[in-house]
Amino acid sequence: MLQMLEESVDRYTSLKKYNLDAIVSLNTSGIITSANPAAEAITGYSALELIGMPFADLLVPEEEGTQTQLHNIMHEGALAGMEMKIVRKSGQPAYLLATPAPIYVNRRQVGCYIIAKDITEQKRKDELLLKSEKLTIAGQLAAGVAHEIRNPLTALKGFVQLMGRSEHGYSQYLPIMKEELERIEVIISELLMLAKPQAVQMKIADLAVLVQEVVMLTSAQAMLLNIEIRFFPTGEPLPIRCDPNQIKQVFVNFLKNAFEAMPQGGTIDVSMETTEQGLTLVRVADQGCGISQEQLRQLGEPFYSTKEAGTGLGLLVSHKIIEHHKGRIHIASEVGVGTTIQVTLPIHR
Ligand SMILES: Nc1ncnc2c1ncn2[C@@H]1O[C@H](COP(=O)(O)OP(=O)(O)OP(=O)(O)O)[C@@H](O)[C@H]1O
Ligand SMILES: [Mg+2]
Repeated sequence: MLQMLEESVDRYTSLKKYNLDAIVSLNTSGIITSANPAAEAITGYSALELIGMPFADLLVPEEEGTQTQLHNIMHEGALAGMEMKIVRKSGQPAYLLATPAPIYVNRRQVGCYIIAKDITEQKRKDELLLKSEKLTIAGQLAAGVAHEIRNPLTALKGFVQLMGRSEHGYSQYLPIMKEELERIEVIISELLMLAKPQAVQMKIADLAVLVQEVVMLTSAQAMLLNIEIRFFPTGEPLPIRCDPNQIKQVFVNFLKNAFEAMPQGGTIDVSMETTEQGLTLVRVADQGCGISQEQLRQLGEPFYSTKEAGTGLGLLVSHKIIEHHKGRIHIASEVGVGTTIQVTLPIHR
């Protein structure tokens, strides 16, 4: 009898110890009374730290639903699996798919087990997939719209040119019309770039020169807005394999965003560096309104804009271009302090 009991305890211990899912037990007050190694791995807390902790402390406070669900398991023995969001010891969130199981001793519920699978990675992938799906939809839409607009635009441009040659006294409007038409053309090619990279012209160019050209190009507008752009190149040429126009487009987008974030004016620092990994790094740091954590998460979604006249395509297009050049974009921002955008690109050797 004793041997059987010991064997049963061993079996039960093995089940907990070697399970890849987290298994914690709670007493009826919701206090953790045991935790297996997987629970330690997922939460980042040791079993010692977990035991005695109210399970609710692990949950993200704003997830009211889970708190109620937890209450239901404890008091009504609900058995459905549910998604929970917890905060790891490191402060990082984790998503769990949790199945509760009530613990009955002598027909009385003394607590419950929570068996949970870490689905954080799965969730991240799902979100990425959703984002890329949206991206293709946006891309298709953009391509369609761009295509439809391009033809009438060509006709209009032709007529504006013809009008410029005749003597009808409208000559003061013509340059404006031409300028506006060209602006539309730029927007269209930006949209088309979204759908698929347009006949990309890859060549070796000096990133320092490209960035400097953009700074020069935009500094007149900056001056009007009471903004100073300071440029800190490394002083050496930084050859990259790129489509120079696309790369310039990216920095125009960043500077335009920085301008729009600084209605009171201020300073924008554009600095360059090389890293030990053979990368070149460009930093665009503004003193603008900044981006909240909540907004940061939504960046990269097509048409996400906080501006009345914004298309919400600038960053998306920039991401696409840099990705295409085997580079990366990193955005750091603090509300009320400013935003720093970092672009790394491989140096061509
Ligand atoms: N430097 C920045 N400072 C503060 N917020 C920014 C900055 N850059 C981007 N953002 C935020 O990110 C959003 C998306 O930027 P994005 O460039 O993709 O679109 P947009 O600027 O709104 O529109 P568009 O670029 O088409 O004019 C902006 O609406 C803004 O809220
Ligand atoms: Mg923008």
